[in-house]
Amino acid sequence: MTASIPVRIWDLPTRAFHVALAVLVTAAIATAESGGEWMAWHLRCGEAVLALLAFRWAWGLVGGRWSRFASFVPAPARVVRALRGRTRTADAVGHNPLGALSVWAFLVLLSLQVATGLVADDDIATTGPLNGHVSGRLARAASAWHAGWGADLVFALIALHLLAVAWYTLRRREPLVGAMWSGDKPLPPGTPASRDGAGSRLLALVLFALACAGVWAMLRWAA
Ligand code: HEM
Ligand code: HEM
Repeated sequence: MTASIPVRIWDLPTRAFHVALAVLVTAAIATAESGGEWMAWHLRCGEAVLALLAFRWAWGLVGGRWSRFASFVPAPARVVRALRGRTRTADAVGHNPLGALSVWAFLVLLSLQVATGLVADDDIATTGPLNGHVSGRLARAASAWHAGWGADLVFALIALHLLAVAWYTLRRREPLVGAMWSGDKPLPPGTPASRDGAGSRLLALVLFALACAGVWAMLRWAA
């Protein structure tokens, strides 16, 4: 058997995105559940999540090799192989096929959560910043999704994510968490690495700054 060597899989921007997303989504949930005065912070956390998601959608096109969407398309054949426990080594370098499904679910559900939050209205004291720019009917439907199914699906996905990470770590002894922290996975020599140099980190910083500027401009326009 060939000895494994550490290979850079998760570039720094992807790792920083993940930590920031976990912290801000947790804060958005805690502030929404607290309600009252905390709703102002809920909106701020949600708007920061919007900037993070905008960055990740762009990074999925131009980021490091294993962070690109093209490297984790959840093709049915790959998912079936994974469900049968026959994942090929090449399928498991970055997100494995089941992990890929959950990443897509996170990106889509969180984007929907943010979009509906922007136009929501709780009929008490809190309205999303774009609420006045859409019809009352759309705002009611968006609020119902945001505080109902949308929130429940996000909670369920987080629970599933944590259980899956615990299962791969404890039962399968796969160093997933260490890899998301350090960026490296032990893999056979010759496995292609993700680009993670100063140039690509600078590109990520520029993209994130653009995402923040876009969110800021939208909020100013809406005010
Ligand atoms: C990270 C994504 C988000 C999550 C997980 C989330 C979660 C929630 C939850 C669980 C509630 C219901 C609170 C309750 O009634 O018990 C809520 C309400 C609300 N959220 Fe968010 N939210 C997110 C993003 C946003 C964003 C980006 C905005 C707007 C900038 C926003 C604006 C609102 C508003 C206006 C309400 C009150 C609407 C209602 O209760 O019908 N949220 N959110
Ligand atoms: C609210 C909390 C969390 C959310 C919303 C979340 C979301 C995500 C997302 C979107 C990804 C894909 C990363 C990307 O390619 O951009 C991911 C991957 C990952 N997350 Fe989380 N995460 C959360 C908490 C955690 C925690 C607490 C841990 C572990 C201590 C963790 C461990 C991981 C690992 C190991 C991966 C990589 C999985 C793989 O190798 O395919 N996450 N998470």
